[in-house]
Amino acid sequence: MAKKDFNAKTPASEHRTINAQPRLHQHASEIQQYGTVSHMLPLDLEEPVRLEMTEQLNLLLADTMTLRDLYKKSHWQVAGPTFYQLHLLFDKHHEEQSEIVDTIAERIQLLGGISIAMAADVAETTRIERPPKGREEVPVQISRLLDAHQIIISHCRELAERSTKLGDAGTNDLVVSDVLRTNELQVWFLSEHLVDAPLVIADQTRLRNAS
Ligand SMILES: [Fe+2]
Repeated sequence: MAKKDFNAKTPASEHRTINAQPRLHQHASEIQQYGTVSHMLPLDLEEPVRLEMTEQLNLLLADTMTLRDLYKKSHWQVAGPTFYQLHLLFDKHHEEQSEIVDTIAERIQLLGGISIAMAADVAETTRIERPPKGREEVPVQISRLLDAHQIIISHCRELAERSTKLGDAGTNDLVVSDVLRTNELQVWFLSEHLVDAPLVIADQTRLRNAS
């Protein structure tokens, strides 16, 4: 057996430059355009159904992302004697809305679509009114949040019916179990704060009127 010559030089063609640098600033065209769905998926759901459902879910997603951000704004900017409890409540609702955002976005992707993602695109798409940058009173903050919930809830009811009609049981389940029910519960927790109930001294005017 011939001995290996360890001093022999490697031919120039076999030289490789070791370059551990990351390749930065790369660009290429998109691999799938927004507003399309992939053609072949083993989901037993026709392409037109997936197209309509992903379009509707993107509207729901844009509104939910806006509501999520509105909760964080309210969490930071709340003022007044109920600061602490509202500061905590707004953050809890923000967390719950964040989870819903992920659930909706991933359903859009699994249906073969593209989820809306960036703030500028969300702002163009949402039906929720843009709040001012500055601080607002608690009743105004809560009213804004309730208006946003109402937009989402009414869309959920339409979408629940439509998805059932089209045979998309998964979307129906997500819309009802995750989105609608969470929003209904949050509406209850918010709206109780707008009931004008006495804080310290009971209102005896009705007692007097009854006697
Ligand atoms: Fe915080």
